Amino acid sequence: MGLVLGAVSVVVISILGRILLRQIWRPYAIAKYFRKQGVIGPSYRFWSGSIEEIKRLKKAGSDLILANDCHDITKRVLGHYREWIPRYGETFLFWVGSKPTICVSDVQMVKQILSDKFGFFPKMEVPPSVFSLFGKGLVLVEGEEWVRHRRVVNPAFAIDKLKLLTKTMAECTKTMIDAWVYETNREGDGRKEIDVAAYFQELTADVISHTAFGSSYKEGKEVFLAQRKLQFLVAESLLNLNFPGSKYYPTKKNLQKWKLEGTIRNTLMSIIKSRLDSKNGSGFGNDLLGLMLDASREGDNELLSMDEIVDECKTFFFAGQETTSHLLAWAMFLLSTNQDWQERIRDEVMEYCGNEIPNPEMISKLKLVTMVLLETLRLYGPVVQIARKTTKDVSLGSVNIQKDTGLLIPIAMIHRNKKLWGADADEFNPLRFENGASKAATHPTALLAFSIGPRVCIGQNFAMLEAKVVLAMILQQFAFTLSPEYKHAPVDVITLQPKFGLPIILKPLLL
Ligand code: HEM
Repeated sequence: MGLVLGAVSVVVISILGRILLRQIWRPYAIAKYFRKQGVIGPSYRFWSGSIEEIKRLKKAGSDLILANDCHDITKRVLGHYREWIPRYGETFLFWVGSKPTICVSDVQMVKQILSDKFGFFPKMEVPPSVFSLFGKGLVLVEGEEWVRHRRVVNPAFAIDKLKLLTKTMAECTKTMIDAWVYETNREGDGRKEIDVAAYFQELTADVISHTAFGSSYKEGKEVFLAQRKLQFLVAESLLNLNFPGSKYYPTKKNLQKWKLEGTIRNTLMSIIKSRLDSKNGSGFGNDLLGLMLDASREGDNELLSMDEIVDECKTFFFAGQETTSHLLAWAMFLLSTNQDWQERIRDEVMEYCGNEIPNPEMISKLKLVTMVLLETLRLYGPVVQIARKTTKDVSLGSVNIQKDTGLLIPIAMIHRNKKLWGADADEFNPLRFENGASKAATHPTALLAFSIGPRVCIGQNFAMLEAKVVLAMILQQFAFTLSPEYKHAPVDVITLQPKFGLPIILKPLLL
């Protein structure tokens, strides 16, 4: 009996010792280490760190409805950075549970992190639930594995290959425009209010299904629908502190997740298998999947396994559909509230495209449209922050950071920094991009919407091309204003989106 009690005491003491070390002593020592370097931040709270405070500030922001001409979305989506940067400075320490995390909003330091080629700043570990969205696709892999994946996926996004996709993008857009024409024709005065955000979700899913999977686009669309449901389940779980092994518990949410994951994997497997079976002399086809399959084979060598290809397909959907859909929605919002710019870019579209379906040559001439999209990405970039971590002790600018520290780059805050963008940083002014993105701010890499460096978004040209085709085709046919029903409430559900949709009043130009 005495022996048992003794053993229990040893276990209890060792657990308490660990808790004391990890949850109290270590945070205290780390906070002191940073304080000595002038890096301070909100106090550490036992177990939850800064999470409860982040939740509180986010909740306070999420109840706000902004004025339509207020572009400072950080009030709603990054309330904690908005409160903490003025209080603690551009570089400060906060806590995700007991994990120390540095907010880095100095652009030179951001550049050092994102341009790193030696793997000193890999992506932060993501909660297991996020793996179900991307699998081990390009977004989440690291090191040698990343090099291998990027080599296979890169050719599919080469500019000459993308240009071939313009026609498919325009055909998908035409289907949406035809539906809008039908809707407006049914109204006596030709004006019709529609939720364009919902249409753009459908359109971008169509575009990625057609451009990624060619003739198998219908099955591709099934994947998209399952992935969207999964995304909401994942987003819900992101701010919860997970207990060890919780991903294996058969909770209602986990059961739903497993079912969706099964549907996504099986459908993608069947698309890929039938593509492999139908190989002809000229390769696996000119869509993203075909180009990726071509590049994944070097003689008898397979650079990516079947599972890895499945994961890359998931990545196309998640990384490419949602983001572009929201970029389009925010561009429409800004053009509805800035009629002068709507007219200006319509004139440009009419000058270079007339009433024809835009082709790559016409698209390349649309300078003002590009400027409007860049300004949209600055104010309403779909990705509001980027996460990294340190894998060894490093010096970042003048700050020494220990191994295993999280790094969070609040893009949406940096995009509104008046020192970088000028006194009108909170206003919509596409002219700032007149001489290109690198000359728009006082620092050449201040625009971070697609990130920078080796891990820059692989799909940025795809997204910009698609957005230009879609906007040009809308501007050719319709004038539009914001519905009085619209409530300006941007929300970050992994990507930044209008919480209550985007009701727009369309008016055909020919009426
Ligand atoms: C407006 C549209 C888009 C935005 C704002 C956007 C933004 C970003 C950002 C910020 C990153 C870096 C994330 C990080 O480092 O943590 C990224 C990476 C990535 N994006 Fe995009 N993206 C867009 C469209 C697309 C499209 C259309 C595709 C593909 C069809 C795509 C595929 C990817 C992939 C695969 C990566 C990971 C690249 C790597 O790590 O090597 N994105 N994107």
